[in-house]
Amino acid sequence: MKQIIGASCIFLCDERFSILENGGLLIECDPRSQHNKILKIQDFKSLTQSYPELQASFYTDSVLLPALSNAHIHFEFSNNRSHLLYGDFPSWLSSVITHRDDLMTELSQSIQREIKLQLASGVASVGAISSYGYDISPLIHSPLKVTLFNEAIGSNPEALDFLYGNLLERFEECRQYSSARFKPALAIHSPYSTHYVLARKIAHLAKHEGVRLSCHFLESKEEKQWLYHQNGWFKEFFSHFFGVHQAKPSMNALEFLDLLQDTSPLFVHCLFADDEILDRIAKLCGFVACAPRSNRLLNGRYLDLDKLRYFDLHPIFSTDGLSSNHSLNLIEEIRSAFFGYASLDAMQLAQDLILGITRFPALALGNPNGEIGEGKDADLAIFECEGIESSRQKPLHFVLHAHTHVTQLYINGQGEQTWKL
Ligand code: BEZ
Ligand code: FE2
Repeated sequence: MKQIIGASCIFLCDERFSILENGGLLIECDPRSQHNKILKIQDFKSLTQSYPELQASFYTDSVLLPALSNAHIHFEFSNNRSHLLYGDFPSWLSSVITHRDDLMTELSQSIQREIKLQLASGVASVGAISSYGYDISPLIHSPLKVTLFNEAIGSNPEALDFLYGNLLERFEECRQYSSARFKPALAIHSPYSTHYVLARKIAHLAKHEGVRLSCHFLESKEEKQWLYHQNGWFKEFFSHFFGVHQAKPSMNALEFLDLLQDTSPLFVHCLFADDEILDRIAKLCGFVACAPRSNRLLNGRYLDLDKLRYFDLHPIFSTDGLSSNHSLNLIEEIRSAFFGYASLDAMQLAQDLILGITRFPALALGNPNGEIGEGKDADLAIFECEGIESSRQKPLHFVLHAHTHVTQLYINGQGEQTWKL
């Protein structure tokens, strides 16, 4: 089946941030095989004249762009409202350890609610960090395109075989459902929380299986102190919560990066990464994702985007989970970030924010979407945005005025009315 979709304004989300006014897309999709793609990009009028027999829809006062990708989200923490403490990383992590079991009870409704919110806010693709496996089934049965990062965590050398076995079980479960829409992947929680031997096994597995790999990295100043100087708050943390006195990190930051060679990992946060680390990440062909509101709540700072640019790294913006956010709406996330980065050039920042929820997360997740280009998947979002037609600063006005819920979302060329929710 072929159809034409158009809007007052199309953000192609190519490298130059091209914008097509009164643009149209010819897309094809086969609902049975899920085969779909964007065939042609032109102005709407001439497309409809060339293909008068096709169904055509045009959205006025609206922006059509690639469906969004939320590359770092924890659905399993969707029960949190006020259990966890904010303001500094030590208080937060301590509260996670204290409350994580309570937060995992009666989870299914909250996970469903957040899946629906992703779709309603224009997200077609997610990079879901799965710590326990509770999100696997709901995500398999959702319309979302999912990269499911099965995560391992654990610093106790005696528990490593058990932890790796548990990870393999979850990974195997996911592999049975592997498809173009559901991709099993792996996550190392972080170098402070995951023993070197376990991290090495996971990195090998990711390489061997050719799957994506994600890790939290240099999120807090306490983590930096621990990895670089083997002291500070984490020493007390391991003694208090795990009874390990005189604990030492099992690797430093550079040893961690050495493990990840040939995996093009997705590094999440990197708030305290210095030039040496960013240079190494760029040489690893890694990606950097941040979650601005989470960063504000836990660490009181934002990722330095100028520094990232210097190393030719492109920021990815994500929501993280409700463990460190008040809402997982990705449009609201970039709107908050826009006001957080008070000193950056407004137009450049608006473009970076939009590319950071479309083009670059798609590259990081290895998905053929995230850009409107011929041959790309027909994953498209249409947002009403009053005044966009006459705007002379369209990306900036989109960040400010786009409705936080989509008018229409196409996944594999199929609109909402065809999904089973
Ligand atoms: C652990 O399970 O060893 C761990 C969990 C969270 C933070 C640090 C260590
Ligand atoms: Fe996270």
